[in-house]
Amino acid sequence: MSDSTDSRLKDDRRFVPAAEFSKHARVQSHAEYTSLHERSLSEPEAFWREHTQDLVFRKPWTSFQDWKSPDAKFFLGAELNISESCLDRHLKSDARTRAALVWEGEPGDSRTLTYFELHREVVRLSAALLDLGIQKGDRVGIYMGMVPEAVIAMLACARIGATHSVTFGGFSADSLRDRLNDCEARLLITQDGAYRRGNIVPLKQMADEAVLQARTVEKTIVLRRVGRERAPVEMRPGRDIWWDDLMARTPSPKSVERAMKPEAFDAEHPLFILYTSGSTGKPKGLLHTTAGYLAGVHVTSKYVFDLRPGDLYWCTADIGWITGHSYIVYGPLSCGAACLLYEGAPNFPDWGRFWSIIEKHGVSILYTAPTAIRAFIRAGDEWPQKYDLSSLRLLGSVGEPINPEAWTWYHRVIGGGRCPVVDTWWQTETGSIMLTTLPGACYSKPGSTGLPLFGVDIEVQKDSGEACAPNESGTLVIKRPWPSMARTIYKDPARYAETYWAAKNGSYVTGDGARRDEDGYFWVVGRIDDVLNVAGHRIGTAEIESALVSHPSVAEAAAVGRPDDLKGQALVVFVTVKSGIKADRALKDKLTEHVDKEIGKFARPDQIRFAEALPKTRSGKIMRRFLKDIAAGVVETKGDTSTLEDFNVLANLRKDDDA
Ligand code: WTA
Repeated sequence: MSDSTDSRLKDDRRFVPAAEFSKHARVQSHAEYTSLHERSLSEPEAFWREHTQDLVFRKPWTSFQDWKSPDAKFFLGAELNISESCLDRHLKSDARTRAALVWEGEPGDSRTLTYFELHREVVRLSAALLDLGIQKGDRVGIYMGMVPEAVIAMLACARIGATHSVTFGGFSADSLRDRLNDCEARLLITQDGAYRRGNIVPLKQMADEAVLQARTVEKTIVLRRVGRERAPVEMRPGRDIWWDDLMARTPSPKSVERAMKPEAFDAEHPLFILYTSGSTGKPKGLLHTTAGYLAGVHVTSKYVFDLRPGDLYWCTADIGWITGHSYIVYGPLSCGAACLLYEGAPNFPDWGRFWSIIEKHGVSILYTAPTAIRAFIRAGDEWPQKYDLSSLRLLGSVGEPINPEAWTWYHRVIGGGRCPVVDTWWQTETGSIMLTTLPGACYSKPGSTGLPLFGVDIEVQKDSGEACAPNESGTLVIKRPWPSMARTIYKDPARYAETYWAAKNGSYVTGDGARRDEDGYFWVVGRIDDVLNVAGHRIGTAEIESALVSHPSVAEAAAVGRPDDLKGQALVVFVTVKSGIKADRALKDKLTEHVDKEIGKFARPDQIRFAEALPKTRSGKIMRRFLKDIAAGVVETKGDTSTLEDFNVLANLRKDDDA
């Protein structure tokens, strides 16, 4: 690990929750938090039994956990249908006629679905999927924008036991194709187009391209969102069905019955596969199962967001990432919360959009990412100041380290100084939030992600596997399995074992570097593997490199991160071209387009630098740490250069190249 003299690690201010907040909070003091956390570790079975009381289990579990590293099972013997916890159970309470989803479209249209209505739509789609022949265990791809139907699609899959795999709408046709092929999806659910910053993302067109080479996809369901003029689509007879036509068909009585009273599945039934970047070129399909995942997202939604009736909760993540899965869909709905869903960009039509949404709907809890907060700071305080944000009572942050400046701005300007800010650390792999400060119970330190949540036994370790001393930097590891953890990498259990569970002492390796201070607060610095976090999106350097070398002009490529005030990290790539190829501006444009096509626009390099050669060891391994220094503009290269094969390479690389 590098040293921890980073300026953002020096902030030791404490923000104590307001007495008014604590008085009503679920957990009201630090002592209460500590005793709950201790109990969750010393008596996990009793803890989880108590804390999953509200959830619907058709058969209770007989044993809490079965762990033979790296294979975990939780809540053995239990049978449940997760959609009953998210929908049916609320039909018996006041929540029935309360909003489940409050949706705001980018052009300004809005729609509200109550729990009753959401349940009805999910049941209808479930019956329709059954009539299409989709069965328990089948995989279904979802490639949609932020529309209520995306939530309906996920829940309908879950209800019939089909495993969904959502691909973020910013991914290209090629990325979608690879994911559909990897999970062997039989069905794809998509939409004609999605609104994004006033433009249209032609999702169906890209889906068509993907499906051409996705041999397992038999049918496509297409939601009409933007209309024929804006997104012309070609419907292939026999394969493509409009969502509305499908929903208008009279379902068979048998399917209706199965959709109304859905089957209960085993606790470990596969709920979804979500692809995420790792340190090789191929994304990993992390598999999450049912009961443990539900328990984790339910308990954390309830305690971290302190949800209660009357709240309007808004998580701004996209449904295509884990944050959308856990904290737009399964967690908050399992709590009966009213969730705001916003379709578009934060700056459309202007930088006041988020604040106007909060004012318009009366949002009380906002959960967003540091990159967005930094972009709002840059846009100016006048935007939030134009709107009434007094409905807010709690703020959350997720996805990347939050610098103290952004934290304090968020607290002061958005939260009016009265709302606790919860910084939440977790990963696609962990399924639910692992570190935070429970609002009302624990003080926050700007820039620290706080303390472990229930069932989380976490530590900062040295390479030797020994625990680090307070304030000593090391690797963040989790020392025992927890219910919401991913169970495997789909079809690649060996990679799962090797990536996460190869530590000699049996800990789960997060891939993040961190330190824990003298008060037990964790400070996460960022990834220490070959994964970058650009604007809160996980991007594997190897993925970018393999996209670039697949271009006919490129001989070699190396991708590194450079610190960036707005995005946390910016993506810089060094490229050597094949002989006879001209390394010029036009080629840079072509390479940018190539990355758009291979991965998606969100993974575009911020800078492409041509190089005659890349720094390598004598055995041919690219020495990334030098490239990182060069990308960051560091003049003197620190560290050992003795293994560098050709020293001139470094000098040449430093020459500023901006063709
Ligand atoms: C980073 C997103 C610092 C971290 C939920 C992690 C964070 C990766 C935080 C997972 C945070 C997430 N502070 N870093 N509060 N939250 N990260 O899988 O590097 O998209 O390993 O899950 O994001 O990204 P993922």
